[in-house]
Amino acid sequence: MKHIRNFCIIAHIDHGKSTLADRLLDSTGSVTDREKQEQLLDSMDLERERGITIKSHAIQMDYTYKGEQYVLNLIDTPGHVDFSYEVSRSIAACEGALLVVDAAQSIQAQTISNLYLALENDLEIIPVLNKVDLPSANPEEVTDDIVDLLGCDPSEVIPASAKTGLGIDEILSAIIERIPPPSGKVDAPLRALIFDSVYNPFRGVETYFRVINGTIKKGQQIKFVATGKNYNADEVGTLKLKQLPRNEIKTGDVGYLITGIKEAKEVKVGDTITDAKNPTTEAVPGFEDVKPMVFAGIYPVDTEDYEDLRASMEKLQLNDASLVFTPESSAALGFGFRCGFLGMLHLEIIQERLEREFDMTVITTVPNVSYHAYTHKHPDEVILVNNPSDLPEPSSLDRVEEPYIKATIITKADFVGPVMSLCIEKRGQITNQTYLTPERVELSFDMPLAEIVFDFYDRLKTVSRGYASFDYSPIGMRPSKLVKVDVLLNGNTVDALSALLHVDNAYDIGKKMCEKLKELIPRQQFDIPIQAAIGAKIIARETVKALRKDVTAKCYGGDISRKRKLLEKQKKGKKRMRQVGNVEIPQEAFMAVLKLN
Ligand code: GTP
Repeated sequence: MKHIRNFCIIAHIDHGKSTLADRLLDSTGSVTDREKQEQLLDSMDLERERGITIKSHAIQMDYTYKGEQYVLNLIDTPGHVDFSYEVSRSIAACEGALLVVDAAQSIQAQTISNLYLALENDLEIIPVLNKVDLPSANPEEVTDDIVDLLGCDPSEVIPASAKTGLGIDEILSAIIERIPPPSGKVDAPLRALIFDSVYNPFRGVETYFRVINGTIKKGQQIKFVATGKNYNADEVGTLKLKQLPRNEIKTGDVGYLITGIKEAKEVKVGDTITDAKNPTTEAVPGFEDVKPMVFAGIYPVDTEDYEDLRASMEKLQLNDASLVFTPESSAALGFGFRCGFLGMLHLEIIQERLEREFDMTVITTVPNVSYHAYTHKHPDEVILVNNPSDLPEPSSLDRVEEPYIKATIITKADFVGPVMSLCIEKRGQITNQTYLTPERVELSFDMPLAEIVFDFYDRLKTVSRGYASFDYSPIGMRPSKLVKVDVLLNGNTVDALSALLHVDNAYDIGKKMCEKLKELIPRQQFDIPIQAAIGAKIIARETVKALRKDVTAKCYGGDISRKRKLLEKQKKGKKRMRQVGNVEIPQEAFMAVLKLN
């Protein structure tokens, strides 16, 4: 145990976490030339293209320091707020963290939120000032910022460049010198923390764990505490660039486990692995069932593809336990699914994976958060509202609650005004304002989560000219005034366009939705009135004017096969269009409410 170090790298997005991880692998000789490729740890195509780490992974390095052999386990953490629970579990598996700060950008919102998570878990923090090679780097100033934040000595901050390799040896020495070795009980019953899992279609779910007490052996009967299920440890091993099977993984070390589990949802991040016959009395604290935060409907563009969509969603769920879905139907869109996501990025990822990996073309409806509604009749019984149609009749409604978050924004002093106005417009209440330096300010707000779903990121970027970073964490439910805004096309309510909105926003957003839909809905042979309504009350109206000329006239007569070809072509072009009544609605219209400004 004395020779094990478990650490993670925490950083704001793009501050160089993955590049630094690659460097460390390189310097410890953990990668052969053949295996060298950019961003080694980001194995999913999607991750690589987006340049962000979505799932955390772990990797083991061997390193000789002052003549002694050490094992360094690097546990990678996902870089986006949607996945903060996974970050917290990865952090809980470590004794130390490299806190990477970009020498040009300085401390940003996720630097701080990740640092707090690390400090809550008593991690030893090694501050790394990365990208000092950049001409725009400000090493002295940013070192001061770090010293202020951590209360450490300036000499503890390691100047580095993951690009040129500067400082890498110092970082490796610091990992060994400053991070304490693990301190578990070798003789105690097995107690291991699951910090990640990966779905492998051939081998079943691979579970990544950190042994806290005891030993996990190949062939052992084990038990997952939260799910209460028993398994046989078919294979255990350490995580080099490839998996290396071992007979046992001991106290303090990190490894993988294969049990033949076929579904991701059986393996819960944060759960404890113990021995089935001699179980530990104490589970690792901090286990939570991850709850979806954002809900939206997903429908096949072609109604006939419903069963294919179901099969694809089931496969996706096998390897992404945080995705939940239940069948729902819409008068406008037919049969589809109401899906729960961790956040907006997660929603985008699922939509993209459905298209890329399963070749499905889908329509996603207006996302909403999960509300709690109570009726006069049963004022103590919570009704979960994950869908506009779940909201009880206004007359029967006693009260509604909506999820709130604590939002942390770091920006330049120049932009404090516009950022505050934006947050107040988004129903935020400022709770704290701290000048980190004379130029940089940290603002905290209590805000409804729903306001983040609607165009918040883009607006924040615009009002701060890109100089604002943002992070959030849930702080529970609070009273809300909610209404359902319906959209009528040609006099008919299109249920899939309904949105749940705060009453103060309803008129404004209803109006903007009508304007946006007017832009998006193609003109047809007749006028199409677009109306927004709350109950029977119309709150806004626009009209898509009829086409003046009959453009399809050309199609009549002539060669029938040519005409069919033309129709085929049109059909392809119409992918993502949905005929509702006699009006054609493009996909963008269903998400229009998200892009109103
Ligand atoms: P996420 O995975 O999205 O959180 O990003 P990350 O923190 O892993 O950042 P990543 O390693 O992808 O680096 C972001 C960008 O910064 C990439 O274009 C890197 O090439 C660049 N970069 C990283 N380290 C350095 C450095 O030391 N110097 C310079 N000049 N560029 C760097």
